[in-house]
Amino acid sequence: MAYDSKTLENFRKAGKLAAKVRDYAKTLIKTGMLYVELADAVEKKIFELGARPGFPCNISVNSTAAHHVPLEGERLAFADGDLVKIDLGVHVEGAVADTAVSVSIGKDEENEKLIKASEAALAAAIKLATPGRKVSEIGRAVEQAISSFGFRPIKNLSGHLVDIYDLHADLTIPNFDNKSNEILEKGMAIAIEPFATDGDGFIREGDEISVFRLERPASVRNGREILEHIASEYVTLPFAKRWLARKFNPLKVNLFLKEAIAKGMLHPYNVLLEKKGSKVAQTEHTILVSETPEILTA
Ligand code: CO
Repeated sequence: MAYDSKTLENFRKAGKLAAKVRDYAKTLIKTGMLYVELADAVEKKIFELGARPGFPCNISVNSTAAHHVPLEGERLAFADGDLVKIDLGVHVEGAVADTAVSVSIGKDEENEKLIKASEAALAAAIKLATPGRKVSEIGRAVEQAISSFGFRPIKNLSGHLVDIYDLHADLTIPNFDNKSNEILEKGMAIAIEPFATDGDGFIREGDEISVFRLERPASVRNGREILEHIASEYVTLPFAKRWLARKFNPLKVNLFLKEAIAKGMLHPYNVLLEKKGSKVAQTEHTILVSETPEILTA
């Protein structure tokens, strides 16, 4: 597969900006800061740089592996000893770059070791992001790297192909040897995201849902203007309930979401929790598959 030069340029731009915002986020995070303040700062920065969020900034702490997107008015704050995953995306005309970093609040050996394990796994995986490579080989490298630190990868979370206005396109990049025969093709943009845990290596879905994606548009009785806004602003990329609650009457947003979910229009992203309540670290880059893999979010 091959993108035209304009699209490639958009992917590269999105990647550079995502890296810049990720590194900026790392400088902001501190004890006592609210999760929502960090998410807001990340998203504000993306707009300032002339791009758009590819998805709402995820702030997932300790045993929450992913998909905690702060709600409006949320009071959760970072505390010493927290292991924080900041997962963010930037898109330029639909070309999405997805990147994540883990940060330990204060000194914590276990946090730092988990972070190192996920970083080492990502580094090993990136080297294999070459044309013709089986995705299962990447998974094996991820698992080996994480195991060498005495931890486990999370097996039911994986990296993914990214495509235009499509964050999780139809190719899985596993975090273990899943025996898949699917192979990488030159020019694919893929997100590789190893998760390391000192738990068993599985997540479960929690009840909390604060992020959605428009999947099957249909007519609604409540909040037609909200639906129009989603379709034009976010298209098929994920959006936060918090974003809607700031733009529209929050009661109306609730009515709209209730109806749209009941009608199967929205894909909900439940919060993802490590099954045993163990800590999780994640590191992620978006890579262009090539003989020399190109890290778009370096
Ligand atoms: Co991702």
